[in-house]
Formats: sequence, C-alpha cells, structure tokens
Amino acid sequence: MRARIAEVLHRARARTALLTDTVDDTDLTAQHSPLMSPLVWDLAHIGNQEELWLIRDVGGREAVRADIDELYDAFKHARANRPALPLLDPDQARGYVGSVREKVWDVLESSDLAGNPLVDKGFAFGMIAQHEQQHDETMLATHQLRLGAPVLSAPPLPTARVRLDGEVVIPAGEFLMGTSADPWALDNERPAHPVHVPGFAIDVAPVTNEQYLAFVTDGGYDRPELWSARGWAHRQEAGLTAPQFWTNEDGRWSRTAFGVRTPLRPRQPVVHVCWFEAEAYARWAGKRLPTEAEWEKAARFDPETGASRRYPWGEDTPGPQHANLGQRHLEPAEVGAYPAGASATGVHQLIGDVWEWCATGFDAYPGFRAFPYREYSEVFFGGDYRILRGGCFGTDEVACRGTFRNWDHPIRRQIFAGFRLARDLREDER
Ligand code: AVJ
Ligand code: FE
Repeated sequence: MRARIAEVLHRARARTALLTDTVDDTDLTAQHSPLMSPLVWDLAHIGNQEELWLIRDVGGREAVRADIDELYDAFKHARANRPALPLLDPDQARGYVGSVREKVWDVLESSDLAGNPLVDKGFAFGMIAQHEQQHDETMLATHQLRLGAPVLSAPPLPTARVRLDGEVVIPAGEFLMGTSADPWALDNERPAHPVHVPGFAIDVAPVTNEQYLAFVTDGGYDRPELWSARGWAHRQEAGLTAPQFWTNEDGRWSRTAFGVRTPLRPRQPVVHVCWFEAEAYARWAGKRLPTEAEWEKAARFDPETGASRRYPWGEDTPGPQHANLGQRHLEPAEVGAYPAGASATGVHQLIGDVWEWCATGFDAYPGFRAFPYREYSEVFFGGDYRILRGGCFGTDEVACRGTFRNWDHPIRRQIFAGFRLARDLREDER
C-alpha cells in the first residue's frame, strides 16, 4: 500500500514537473485561453489541495501557507480571472509544492492507513494523486492551446493489430454499475448498484477522423436538421465548421497537436469535438450516443460470470499493452491498436485514447454520499453537463477505471474528447 502510494505520487509529480519545466516563466504565467488557468495557478493549486488534505487533515499538522487558500480555491475565482490574482510566481510555486510534498512523505510514514475512512486503505493519498493527475491533464490541454514552438514529444504510436468495424449487440439485462469495493474510487462512482439496461448495440471502436471527415464533407455542419436546436444555435454562434485544431487547405485536411501540424490520420479516433457535434454526427450516421449505463456495461459486464470487471480486460492495472494512457503518447492511437484491452463483450479502446461523450448528464447514483467534500461531485449533479467516460491518452492510470466518471459542459472541446456510437435494437435483434 505505502509503495503504491509513493509510486503514484512520484509519477504525478514527475508529470507536473515536465508540464511546468518545459515552458518559460512567461508561458507559465500567461493565459493561453480564457477557458484555462495560467499553468502556474494549476501548479500551486495542486500543492494547496495536497496541503489541505494530507498535511492539515490527515496529518493534523500546522499549515504550510494558510494565507494562500483563497487564491487557489477553484470556487472563489473563475479561470478567466486567475491571471490577475497576486499568485505565487513560478519559483515560489515550485518551492511551495516541494515543501508540501516533503511533509507529506513524513505524514505517509506515520499514518496507519486504517480506521478513519479518510485514510483507510490510503484513500486520501490516492485522491490527491488523482487530483494532481487531473490537473496535469488540464495543463496538457493548456499546452495544446498554447502557441509557439513545440516543447513536448512522444515515442511512435502503436499501429492497428486488428481491423475493427461494426458493432456488438449487448442483450437486455441487469448489471452492477459503479463500485463499493474499489478503495480509491471517488464518491460519484459509489455505491455499486444493479441497473437494468435494455438491449442495445454499440460500436467496437470510437468514431475515427476518416468517418468524421465524411460527415464534414457531406455538409454536416450546414444541415440544421442534423442538429438539436441548442446544438445548432451553438454551431452558429461559435462558427463551428470542423473539430477544433483541424485545418482545411483546398480539401487537404491537417490537424495541429502540441504545435505540430500533420495530415489528418484517417484511422485515429476523432478528438476535440463538443457534445453537440457528437450528437449531430450520430444523427447523420443514423445512430445515437450511448447512455452512461450502456457505456459502462459494454466496458465492465462479463456475460460468463455476470460480474462487473474493474477494467474492460479484467482486474489488472492498465499497462501499455492495454490502453493509450498516461501521456505516453500525445494523440489517440489508431483503432485496432489495443486488442489486449478489449472488453468481455468485444468492445475496443474504451479506456484511453479519447474521452467518450455519453448521451446522459451527471447525476448521483442511488445511495450516493458526498465524500470527503461536496465540491468534488455533489455541487455539479443535475447541472448542464454531459458524462465523459474512459479517459484519454492524457489520463493517468490512477485516475481512470471502468467506473470513473468525468463530466463537462456540452460545448467544451478543448478537452481530449471524442465519442462512439450506439443504437437501440431492432425488433428482430431482441
Ligand atoms: C472531474 C475533471 C471535471 O478538472 O474540473 C479537479 C476534477 N476537481 N479539481 C475538473 C477536479 C477538482 C474535475 N473534473
Ligand atoms: Fe482541483
């Protein structure tokens, strides 16, 4: 347990350092988009959350910097206003997160990791590692929005090992959704509860660039009948014509990722589309987005045992053979690149590559209890959000599992989101 905690905390900090040491102070303090905080805010916020929970709460120790709590409280200042705050400068922020972490090692050593629900099985430490990784993913999105010379690089992607096409049918029936047993599952994933899911079909792979391009060239962005009223209004107002970061030069399409422009890779999942674009594509294709329950059943349900797995492939911690996670690569891999990561029902790449928009909103499971703070999940329930599942190439393993729930506004597309399609069964398929 202690070794696992140390591993995930070290990995998160190495990533935070990479994302903040590869750019200069101007880039760290600049606002690269009104949707994002300056990187230096995320950095000190990571340290502040760690100090609040691990030093003060778990450790019962004195504050390192009680005077800066308000600056780094995400609910006190909107992202757009954060650059104007009297923030710690880059060196101060690095010094701060470093001294908090020093004390955390000491707290970890002296904690018995049992008894109190906050520390039982290392929960608070796991929560803080997940929190840092979530902000690292947010900082990765800031890097994607940043202009200038590339600073990140990655090894070549795995290529397709199987040709993926079509869909699988998942017959009607109950499955166990969510979890009560996973020690580091966050409050919104709890508790495990049976859900009856009517029969449905779901695509074995996410929608690819090539498929999405066919929608674009078929006039998908100019046909209001394919869009919901809200979606069309947004498409008009925001002037959407293609996924974010795509460029069209006389019919030759390219895409820019982290400062590098490359021709569109046809078999990679499409990324940087908002929920309304996914909805319009689905209508064009004669299908729909999966509900969250359908997505999770496709990912976790094992028809042989009737049990729900932790990951599509079973219980093993994700490795590079299973899924494209952890910022190992800087883009989604081609569909068919991870046969070892397929689910029991034969659905591929549910974990990693791109977050997948679901049809449904963010609500509490029956029996939900806010833990350890209402502001992680509860205050967002019932809001104007859509569920995203499965993590992306920029999601760390510790912050990703078959039960993990993410959410965002339906217009957002700076996140690494794509989607896959589903449909109701026809009479003769039931
Ligand atoms: C769960 C990804 C929506 O980044 O807004 C970070 C995670 N919560 N700090 C977010 C989170 C508090 C959250 N998401
Ligand atoms: Fe946060």
